[in-house]
Amino acid sequence: MIKYIEHTPSADEFNYLTNSVGWGCRKNSIVEEALRNTLYSLCVFDDNKLIGYGRIIGDKTIFLYIQDIMVIPPYQNKHIGTKIMENLLSKIEIYKKINPNIRTYLGASKGKESFYNKFGFISRPNEDLGPGMVLY
Ligand SMILES: CC(C)(COP(=O)(O)OP(=O)(O)OC[C@H]1O[C@@H](n2cnc3c(N)ncnc32)[C@H](O)[C@@H]1OP(=O)(O)O)[C@@H](O)C(=O)NCCC(=O)NCCS
Repeated sequence: MIKYIEHTPSADEFNYLTNSVGWGCRKNSIVEEALRNTLYSLCVFDDNKLIGYGRIIGDKTIFLYIQDIMVIPPYQNKHIGTKIMENLLSKIEIYKKINPNIRTYLGASKGKESFYNKFGFISRPNEDLGPGMVLY
């Protein structure tokens, strides 16, 4: 049975997921600090097995970021990613009670834009916004 639970995964669990979707692993201490500073962590379990994840980071009232939406390959294309996004967006509705103009960003991986378009996210650049930028 698939369950969606607010829960902070361990660094090993997080690395298992990132590795499963091809993003590799990070040092446990780095992952632990990142997860500790996360506003909201959503884990997806099939019975006791962690099979998906998504999180919200940010300042809670002005800017939020959706990060690390992951569903391990055997469970992809079963609408689990959709449910993760719906859950995170309903959490964002709660933050919106403090500031209805809160802005939520995300960085789509190449080719994944259409997955996020379904939830109302728009691509940059457009008429009003410049391109998103990143510093490595
Ligand atoms: C992207 C990802 C989270 C989607 O989760 P999922 O559970 O497989 O997707 P869903 O079954 O909920 O699909 C929902 C819709 O998005 C579409 N979709 C699924 N994967 C997609 C992809 N990689 N690119 C574009 N559209 C995609 C589906 O066709 C489906 O469309 P429909 O509603 O018209 O049927 C998942 O494939 C994944 O973890 N990929 C590897 C990690 C990754 O790239 N994460 C995103 C980082 S930006």
